[in-house]
Amino acid sequence: MKVAVIGSGYVGLCTGACLSEIGHDVICVDNNEEKVRKLIAGIMPIYEPGLDDFIARNMKAKRLTFSTEVAPAVQQSEVIFICVGTPSTASGKADLSYVEAVARTIASNLGGYKLIVEKSTVPVNTAEKIRMTISHYAPEGSEFDVASNPEFLAEGTAMSDAMNPSRIVLGVTSKRAENLLRELYKPLPGPVIVTDTSSSELIKHASNSFLAMKISFVNALANICELAGADVSQVTEGMGLDPRIGPHFLRAGVGYGGSCFPKDVDAFHFIAEELGYNFRLLAEVQDVNREQVKRFIAKIDRALWVIKEKKIAVLGVAFKPDTDDIRNAPSIAVIEHLLLEGAQVRLYDPKALENAKQQFQNQVSYHEDIYDACTDADCTLLLTEWKEVRTMDLQKLKSVVRLPLIIDGRNLFDPKEMKQQGFKYFGIGRRS
Ligand code: UDX
Ligand code: UDX
Repeated sequence: MKVAVIGSGYVGLCTGACLSEIGHDVICVDNNEEKVRKLIAGIMPIYEPGLDDFIARNMKAKRLTFSTEVAPAVQQSEVIFICVGTPSTASGKADLSYVEAVARTIASNLGGYKLIVEKSTVPVNTAEKIRMTISHYAPEGSEFDVASNPEFLAEGTAMSDAMNPSRIVLGVTSKRAENLLRELYKPLPGPVIVTDTSSSELIKHASNSFLAMKISFVNALANICELAGADVSQVTEGMGLDPRIGPHFLRAGVGYGGSCFPKDVDAFHFIAEELGYNFRLLAEVQDVNREQVKRFIAKIDRALWVIKEKKIAVLGVAFKPDTDDIRNAPSIAVIEHLLLEGAQVRLYDPKALENAKQQFQNQVSYHEDIYDACTDADCTLLLTEWKEVRTMDLQKLKSVVRLPLIIDGRNLFDPKEMKQQGFKYFGIGRRS
């Protein structure tokens, strides 16, 4: 099938790479000329394991091309995916202006029947608004359908998530749209569920918010564990064995980040309010998350007393491992606090240093080696659970730091063992 993917960020690129891999003829479009130029030259704008291989293979097979032009891509395709960003505005409402602009461009280039698929995460009833916009701007009598087909891929595992989806949700209003999408996804495994468009949109917001809620629940629980002298990892192990709860997304830490959870929980709260329901639980989920990073910062302040002029090594800037993405990463709030207090901050991250440089410029130092970052450090902070951090040589670390003080925002080590190895070690929700 001929497919256009409008917006080549994390979502669009992974979607385009996956659809070309299963045999479709895909054109990925983005209005960022530099990004498109790089993609055509085989340079990845993001780090996502396996994405480069998928793209190279499918470009070579001439199933995947890149362009900055929306109009011709729409004209030559039968199925058009909208994957442009849906950022938060100051009020928490999703900014849908990019989606709307793309819908108008699609409308003026429809030609024959087109299926427009909303892949970006959007508030409920957006498909309806896209349908309305296209009807307004398209020539009279144009034939088209608008479907909702949310993505559930997580950064770091996006390609395997895309190729082995937990579910394929088809939010449609016609049999024609359903059949086209079934045909498109035929080569992929995983259950297909067919819904109306608003239910499909809600599946995405509800799934992300529910996962964020699980994390905020365990983070709140971790705070109680600290007060009660219990260990949150033991508590969640015991909880997770109940199949109704499950073991996933119960890791206490410094809080969730990334381009999805913070934005989507806010947007879901906002649309619920607009529809007439105050979904207070979601506001609380976000509050717990914001408080979690503040509690982590308070731990640093307590351990060091005065931060000014202290050398602080930060191991991990990315919001999670296996990505270079630092959008809404908890590390940002931590580092900003340290800088405000006058610390000398030394950053290590195996993939996110380039993005960190855009954020912090020359206010911090950047290190490609863990032990180099930790040299003479008064305190070492663990903020991303990179394999390199998990498996670091603790005795070597101890030999280079000034103080063997570790504050671990990801509970990577056993507090007892750390004590035996001579570290002063603070985790989240565990006895120190
Ligand atoms: C984002 C959101 O995080 C996600 O929740 C939503 O489902 C889709 O958008 P992501 O792919 O990570 O996902 O965003 P981003 O990396 O910002 O990619 C959006 C792309 O769209 C960018 O490359 C941007 O240049 C492009 N874009 C944006 C256009 O091509 N045209 C526009 O009008 C606006
Ligand atoms: C998320 C959803 O998982 C994915 O299905 C959706 O399509 C996009 O949003 P992503 O943001 O890439 O994916 O990462 P995810 O693995 O969900 O982690 C989000 C944040 O939660 C990270 O900061 C991570 O460190 C944190 N997290 C996750 C925890 O703090 N504890 C956990 O137990 C799990």
